[in-house]
Amino acid sequence: MAGGRGALIVLEGMDRAGKSTQSRRLVQALQAAGHRADLLRFPERSTEIGRLIGAYLQRERELDDHAVHLLFAANRWEHVTSMKEKLRQGITLVVDRYAFSGVAFTSAKENFCLEWCKQADAGLPKPDLILFLQLSPEEAAARGNFGSERYENSPFQEKVLQSFRHLMKEKTLNWKTMDASKSIEDLHNEIKTVAEKTMQEVKDKPLGELWK
Ligand code: TMP
Ligand code: MG
Repeated sequence: MAGGRGALIVLEGMDRAGKSTQSRRLVQALQAAGHRADLLRFPERSTEIGRLIGAYLQRERELDDHAVHLLFAANRWEHVTSMKEKLRQGITLVVDRYAFSGVAFTSAKENFCLEWCKQADAGLPKPDLILFLQLSPEEAAARGNFGSERYENSPFQEKVLQSFRHLMKEKTLNWKTMDASKSIEDLHNEIKTVAEKTMQEVKDKPLGELWK
């Protein structure tokens, strides 16, 4: 393909680290620089599966922890065909949360091991770059209160952070930790630089499969 494929760039991190703001800013900046780029987010609440997840997060409905884990993964799988097609066409995808949130959140619950959690997402398109927006619990607290959705409380978020730390040890994945305590503008500029470098590096390389 003439221009090469697009890059799959994921933003992960704790609540209030600025993932959604930075993902939006990155897509806008890439488009303004003449690249083709699209924003995705998981959970994508607009599908049938996504609405079920939304109801669970808003505590309107109870679901077994295993079942909801598989629904989060299914919500990613239902987007794989279109993700692959866009990447093939040279569109870079910036994704606000991915399988790493899936594994980090479920494995923070009692009696879930990392290996079981990873299985449901094994084989998804492998990100070319995973940006972990790092913010201490103190700095996160200074940014305001938690919302009222399920999982939005400090003891649970602490456990999620520990799970993320385990996942980040995997050397076959291209994790980059970013200091999310910086200003929106400074962080954005750093993210844009690493994103463009990655886009250049992967354009002629095949897309990988996650955890396979
Ligand atoms: P959001 O606030 O980014 O929309 O995410 C909603 C919540 O869902 C957030 O607490 C993280 C959690 N989550 C999972 O538990 N599993 C997943 O696979 C994803 C993508 C998010
Ligand atoms: Mg949220």
